[in-house]
Amino acid sequence: MIITKSRAEIEKMYLAGQLVARLLRDLCNLVKPGVTTGELDQYAEKYIRDAGAIPTFKGYRGYPYSICTSVNEQVVHGFPSNRVVLKEGDILSIDCGATLGGYVGDSAVTVPVGSISSEAQKLIDVTKGSLYQAIEKMIVGNRLYDVSYAVQSYVEPLGYTVVRDFCGHGIGTAMHEEPQVPNYGKPGKGPRLREGWVLAVEPMVNVGSHEVKIEKDGWTVTTVDKKLSAHFEHTIAILSEGPWILTELSN
Ligand code: MF3
Ligand code: CO
Repeated sequence: MIITKSRAEIEKMYLAGQLVARLLRDLCNLVKPGVTTGELDQYAEKYIRDAGAIPTFKGYRGYPYSICTSVNEQVVHGFPSNRVVLKEGDILSIDCGATLGGYVGDSAVTVPVGSISSEAQKLIDVTKGSLYQAIEKMIVGNRLYDVSYAVQSYVEPLGYTVVRDFCGHGIGTAMHEEPQVPNYGKPGKGPRLREGWVLAVEPMVNVGSHEVKIEKDGWTVTTVDKKLSAHFEHTIAILSEGPWILTELSN
């Protein structure tokens, strides 16, 4: 069942979303060569708790940390660690969730560490671009897979691939609600988008093959060919007047 949210609920989700947005901005500013992903996790957990919120990821199906930090060929769900030292030329995906007032905000970005190759920068730009293509399709009356197709049809002609094994999702009082939001699909198919739906859309885009595998830690997802991958995510409400990006920083 897809749970429709009232305006009042969406306003609460906006507060959770803005908390995540401000935290991600801070984390991005901390990223530089020599910083560890463990330090980023410690910053995030303190920031979330100090704001009176709960780190949604921590303990979710046994996930041990407050954020996911995925470096280079890691796609999503990488473990932060004081032993993972970021170095010049890396790309880092940071995924973050917080529950505030009972509602979840979920967002991810991929950022450069120092100066990076033009190949890596292009991957980041294309992945972020694909998320905004998807958001443009989040109009009442469009079909769910119009959103999915928007990602795929933007990414693939540019020579990149879309990860198929992980999807976006509905979001509300739970991080994962129906429906699943794949990053590929047939336009004109799927349920019609309704006012009051809130979806987390999260394209994962690879330079090489779309194939991924889960590492022995049971969480970290990496590309099979060890080529670079990027990830962006926003939590977005579908309103009658158009999409509202709850996790986009507004001042
Ligand atoms: N944005 C990811 C998702 O929606 C983050 C989940 S990480 C987990 O699935 F550890 F909490 F599972
Ligand atoms: Co998500």
